[in-house]
Amino acid sequence: MFDMFDMFNEEKKDEQSEEVSSPVPTATYSPTGNFFSISIGGSVLISEKPDVAKIAKFSESINNLAREGYKFALVVGGGKACRNYQAAAKALGANNSFLDEIGIKVTRVNASLLTQTIDSAYPTVLTNVSRVPEIVEGGKIPILGGLLPGITTDAVATLVAEKMNGTFINLSNVDGVYSADPKRSKTAKFYPELSYERLISIIQVAETKPGQNVVLDLPASLILKRSKIKGIFLNGDDLTNFESAVRGGEFHGTLVTEEISEAEATTTGKRIPRKKVEIYEGEEEDEEPPNEHNINF
Ligand code: UTP
Repeated sequence: MFDMFDMFNEEKKDEQSEEVSSPVPTATYSPTGNFFSISIGGSVLISEKPDVAKIAKFSESINNLAREGYKFALVVGGGKACRNYQAAAKALGANNSFLDEIGIKVTRVNASLLTQTIDSAYPTVLTNVSRVPEIVEGGKIPILGGLLPGITTDAVATLVAEKMNGTFINLSNVDGVYSADPKRSKTAKFYPELSYERLISIIQVAETKPGQNVVLDLPASLILKRSKIKGIFLNGDDLTNFESAVRGGEFHGTLVTEEISEAEATTTGKRIPRKKVEIYEGEEEDEEPPNEHNINF
């Protein structure tokens, strides 16, 4: 997926921190049924141009899981190619509505590539969610890009998860949700688990603008919350981890649910014990409470 930290000012960069210690918490959860709405970021599969090897590997993973009986819808993002088009359009005077429209077109072109590699793909990229249930019931995997201006492909995937009463999985180029950009801040905390409210409060620091992304846009997070959809945030380059999450096994990533657990309590001050979630405490020095200026995951 994109660099989801672009939207934050350079001045927020912690120049002193080159690296953050790699957190290795794992979490488990109970999937909701066997349907998964997967939002795969453009920057995972398509950077400047489509990465054929990555598309093939991701498709193989989906094909294997589908043979095991898991059901999917796939929503593909824009990636760098999309941003390039949007930057060009902006330079030529296009407004935000047009930038979104061009973004939607690129995501659909990206999505169309998967129709060629997913064994049971529905052959055309869907432009609305209404036919998703019948396509899934027919044994096919619906594939989508963007739907309408003002949202992102993550929101599209949450709408699909909601329609199907399934689980939402976000595959991006980071391991999950952090309190700050882990590449820039040595005090960035990794969240193995978050409540909807906490996720929303983190997201609210960012505006929704064409071509810019946080880990999830606000509409997507509100859809997760209103229908209590389980959300899982994973690194799209680790397909073994992804497959484990789909199978209900342990995974390294962030689980967003209704409950506030001990994992989240490390930053909220609340403390409700919960089993099976290891907690990454982050580094202790100079840690400020998350706020508009240091939450930039
Ligand atoms: P995304 O931002 O969803 O793609 O869509 P992505 O891959 O997750 O993000 P990057 O590009 O890797 O950072 C790309 C753009 O397409 C438009 C938005 O402008 C969005 O930033 N879009 C996408 C919409 O306007 N509506 C949609 O439903 C989807």
